[in-house]
Amino acid sequence: MHMNKFTFKKIDENKDSKRVVCEKGRATVVFSLKNEVGGLLKALKLFQENHINLVHIESRKSKRRNSEFEILVDCDSNHEQLNEIIQLLRKHVTEVDMDSPDNSCLPEEDMDNVPWFPKKISDLDKCANRVLMYGSDLDADHPGFKDNVYRKRRKYFADLAMSYRHGDPIPRIEFTEEEVKTWGVVYRELTKMYPTHACREYLQNLPLLSKHCDCKEDNIPQLEDVSRFLRERTGFTIRPVAGYLSPRDFLAGLAFRVFHCTQYVRHSSEPLYTPEPDTCHELLGHVPLLAEPSFAQFSQEIGLASLGASDDSIQKLATCYFFTVEFGLCKQEGKLRAYGAGLLSSVSELKHALSGNSKILPFDPKVTCKQECMITTFQDIYFVSDSFEEAKVKMREFAKTIKRPFTVRYNPYTQSVDVLRDTASIHSVVEELRHELDVVGDALSRLNKQLGV
Ligand SMILES: [Fe+2]
Repeated sequence: MHMNKFTFKKIDENKDSKRVVCEKGRATVVFSLKNEVGGLLKALKLFQENHINLVHIESRKSKRRNSEFEILVDCDSNHEQLNEIIQLLRKHVTEVDMDSPDNSCLPEEDMDNVPWFPKKISDLDKCANRVLMYGSDLDADHPGFKDNVYRKRRKYFADLAMSYRHGDPIPRIEFTEEEVKTWGVVYRELTKMYPTHACREYLQNLPLLSKHCDCKEDNIPQLEDVSRFLRERTGFTIRPVAGYLSPRDFLAGLAFRVFHCTQYVRHSSEPLYTPEPDTCHELLGHVPLLAEPSFAQFSQEIGLASLGASDDSIQKLATCYFFTVEFGLCKQEGKLRAYGAGLLSSVSELKHALSGNSKILPFDPKVTCKQECMITTFQDIYFVSDSFEEAKVKMREFAKTIKRPFTVRYNPYTQSVDVLRDTASIHSVVEELRHELDVVGDALSRLNKQLGV
């Protein structure tokens, strides 16, 4: 799937994005007491009545007022409790201060202008149907524009995609003889070129697609089978889509390792040309690389960087996506090879990109994000990376420059994104990482024992 490069939709604000739950953390409260009987007891009782656990108490003579004492209390509380206790303390004590609370949050107002984004995989149901063209609406220069049978068929595919919901099996299609014939031409011509034009990872994975999804010249694989295959390889799944999505909606899918795929076949009059993504482009262009762990990770990181980003940042990320996932080149054993799906599904542009006559620059997100994307002609420039790892590191650095009042982290157990913007949520990530490191440590010590080190 390509995403539409030029249209941004203003997305309705969803107030969900404002709700930030601050979990319990360690906080320090300092308050001043007049030197009178029972004052401390009264104050501490407030903590008890509000079910706040005190873990440490100190007292000292106040530096501000000689007749007063300052009490420092470390406690376990969340922000809500902390605010409440401070209000209550104010009625009883002369000064109260919250000192370096462990569970500090970024200000909630910062979230006010953050566009809505899906937080869990099923939220994609809310944005995967906002397609810019629907079914039989073809442009006048589309090869199938005057073909009513084709338009009706396109409407059929569009309706299937529009009624799809997360968790449904992807409907199996009985492809017509004409569709299989068109696919066959594309398959035959492209597979001739792959050995000399496609990157190593692509060449390794394409046979797996044949083996597990019956991908061959006279059979179009079913998206449901492809989705199951990808899930086992990299955790990516397929979601059928009726047409072009906005870059924001398309990239959001990648954050959840969901790839939006069209299911229709291009018009039979021009098997080697299509003005829009079709299932030949998805299956032969995208799928083999989505089965590659490092590439899957790279794709997901672009998606995660896009969640809640401004329109301007989305544009930049979408352009980087375009010149990597769609039109990217890499260098392998000193030779240029294609890994972009737009190239790997187009006989003529694949030839052109590697002909020696095209302009090629090193992939650098800061530069690449300013390049104009060509939709109906070959690209003016292609960008080359040494490896997906290298591209990922560069994209990761670039993502850090995107202005967002939070960081997101994908939680594969719940297929949701955790919004990290307070110390409690960051602490929980640290705990998880600590456990992961324990596992690594254990594995290494077992290995060392085995090797007698
Ligand atoms: Fe695509």
